[in-house]
Amino acid sequence: MAFVEAHDLVKEYPAKNAAGAVRVVDKVSLSIARGETLGLVGESGSGKSTVARMMLRLIEPTSGSVHFDGVDVLGAGRAGMHALRRRMQIVFQDPYSALNPRMRVRQILLEPCAIHGAPEGVDPQKRVRGLLREVGLDESALERYPHEFSGGQRQRINIARALMLRPEFLILDEPVSALDVSVGAQVVNLLRDLQKNYGLTYLFISHSMPLVRYLCDRVAVMQKGRLVEIGDALEVCDCPREAYTQQLIAATPEMPV
Ligand SMILES: Nc1ncnc2c1ncn2[C@@H]1O[C@H](COP(=O)(O)OP(=O)(O)O)[C@@H](O)[C@H]1O
Ligand SMILES: [Mg+2]
Repeated sequence: MAFVEAHDLVKEYPAKNAAGAVRVVDKVSLSIARGETLGLVGESGSGKSTVARMMLRLIEPTSGSVHFDGVDVLGAGRAGMHALRRRMQIVFQDPYSALNPRMRVRQILLEPCAIHGAPEGVDPQKRVRGLLREVGLDESALERYPHEFSGGQRQRINIARALMLRPEFLILDEPVSALDVSVGAQVVNLLRDLQKNYGLTYLFISHSMPLVRYLCDRVAVMQKGRLVEIGDALEVCDCPREAYTQQLIAATPEMPV
């Protein structure tokens, strides 16, 4: 079994104006090897974030299964889930709403340790300072509030927070879509470096094919809740099989990384 494996994930919501249900994710299966980056692309509304949230059990799937390092995520009880939470983290698209505006950066970064306890042998204050440096910010940031930072800096803070508990698997849900292209490119390169240094496994959600081609080992393409193509990132981006994938490629401009 792969390090991260989702099998036949389905999510249905009650239909708004009629009886029955709307299926927003339809039997999606994905597997990610340890240390690998899998891209997940598709137009807005295709179900990418829903898949991501189901994989972390932030929303309950209607059916399907998720395994993380051999552990049945959807079958885990309270204690099991608590143990899994620290190993799997997510960074969201919007770096503004993700940070509590009333908390200083120090408190924001310490919060995961306050909730889950610090990783064994880790001094949280020391780790906060070290991580801040690693994401390209200096210590003066610790006593400041989120509104004092640019979008790119806030996303760096989000990334540092996601790394506090030494997770092994990170879901990056359009982490640079809200940023200017050049700022986003720097954040992407930071993510690449962090992966190399820590052997992280990534699910990288994006609607930019060039970005996915640059960062990912493999890519999965979603359309209207379904997986329509999956394969080696260079192959899918350079020789897409599906007309839908070709449209996605045509729709995104070159990336200046
Ligand atoms: N809580 C919800 N209730 C009903 N429909 C939802 C809910 N959350 C998401 N959806 C619908 O599911 C579809 C997929 O959404 P999402 O996973 O956010 O797509 P993406 O991340 O690819 O843009 C969309 O049509 C969205 O409107
Ligand atoms: Mg989304």
